[in-house]
Amino acid sequence: MSLEGKKLVLGVTGSIAAYKAAELVRQLVKAGAEVQPVMTAAAARFIPPLTIATLAKREVLGELFPRAGDAQTAWTKHVELGLWADGVVIAPATAQTLAKLAGGFCDSMLTAVVLSARCPVMVAPAMDHDMWGHPATQRNVRQLQADGVEVVAPAHGELASGLVGDGRLPEPAALAARVGEWLGRPGPDQGSASEALGPDGAPEARAESPGPLGGLHVLVTAGPTREALDPVRFLSNGSTGTMGFEIAAAAARRGARVTLLAGPVALATPPGVDRVDVVTADDLLGAALAHADADVVIAAAAVSDYAPAHATDRKLKKGDDDLVLRLRRTPDVLAALGERRRDGQTLVGFALETHDGEDHARGKLARKRLDWIALNSAAEPDAGFGTGTNRLTMLSAEGARVEIPLGPKRDVAEALLDVVGPPAA
Ligand code: CTP
Repeated sequence: MSLEGKKLVLGVTGSIAAYKAAELVRQLVKAGAEVQPVMTAAAARFIPPLTIATLAKREVLGELFPRAGDAQTAWTKHVELGLWADGVVIAPATAQTLAKLAGGFCDSMLTAVVLSARCPVMVAPAMDHDMWGHPATQRNVRQLQADGVEVVAPAHGELASGLVGDGRLPEPAALAARVGEWLGRPGPDQGSASEALGPDGAPEARAESPGPLGGLHVLVTAGPTREALDPVRFLSNGSTGTMGFEIAAAAARRGARVTLLAGPVALATPPGVDRVDVVTADDLLGAALAHADADVVIAAAAVSDYAPAHATDRKLKKGDDDLVLRLRRTPDVLAALGERRRDGQTLVGFALETHDGEDHARGKLARKRLDWIALNSAAEPDAGFGTGTNRLTMLSAEGARVEIPLGPKRDVAEALLDVVGPPAA
């Protein structure tokens, strides 16, 4: 990753994760970037500005207004910085800062720089799990994404509060790599500062982009389900939930309101996505029916088709004989949604097959009253469960057949949404 010659404003805000900003500055400088640190007053309570300034080899800025003795013109510094930077990165970004940015507030040097910036802006939120999951924070994240801000999903793990959940700032090396990838990526909002100037030197208006799925509700199911046999054992499968989470993330990037029904997986909630955790197929059915009126439903969950008929409260003890299990059928969640489908709704299912894929997939497409089914093969090494990549054959109720070539699941998710498109008006 090279950031050679890139000019970055690094905003640090008041989270316990601010201590990681020191290593982040080091990594960004090592990658060739010129880093101008800007800290909020709260950040300075967690990490001394002297540490950050020494590593960045630049004075830390914080005050919006010049102090007594400074040049009276120094108050335009935020505008200069906004023009100077090729990118603004805020890591860690607190819930408070996200709220201010989403609302367009500019009561500190950092928030004023963001409002003045003509370059792309990235935020890496870090906070307690419940603060991250709060509807207000999630609403602010969606707003920022709709404004074109790149949001790095917080990692899952142990938090300073002692709780375990989503909210950790990713490790500095990973964040620095992400910054490199982001600034290297071409995109409508990724021009350099000078390219963003209009012909008369005035700033061009930022594109209003609610996204192609703006105003729509997308429901995604993801991950496996678990069906208890006894308090310590269950029936399940090898789904990691990656494909469904990438679809949810891609739909949120396109401006949709996304509800993600997640089986037991070890993945962070994508930014701007409302997540509901479920365990069993029955749980999933209940949660899905509560959102059955979604405009688009994409069922990527690997739902257990059978559950032990009698789960015991106490751990099963082994005997000398073989054990015969009686299994009961679980509800077919997608078929239940298909039965209730309303006009203008789009239903998309997945079919993971080992043999006669297209025949089985077409059968499911018709039986579950779907618009599209995404066929993937459990026989291919780079597709299906537990891989970072996938390959899909998309089959439609109207007879269309579209191949999505092997690629990272993030790209496959984007391609799937391109194929399915928004529901017909
Ligand atoms: N599905 C579901 N509820 C179930 C089973 C499947 O919602 N109980 C959904 C899956 O999320 C997927 C589609 O239905 O989108 C097809 O799942 P799959 O397991 O391939 O098909 P089944 O209908 O279970 O058929 P089989 O296991 O016999 O292949």
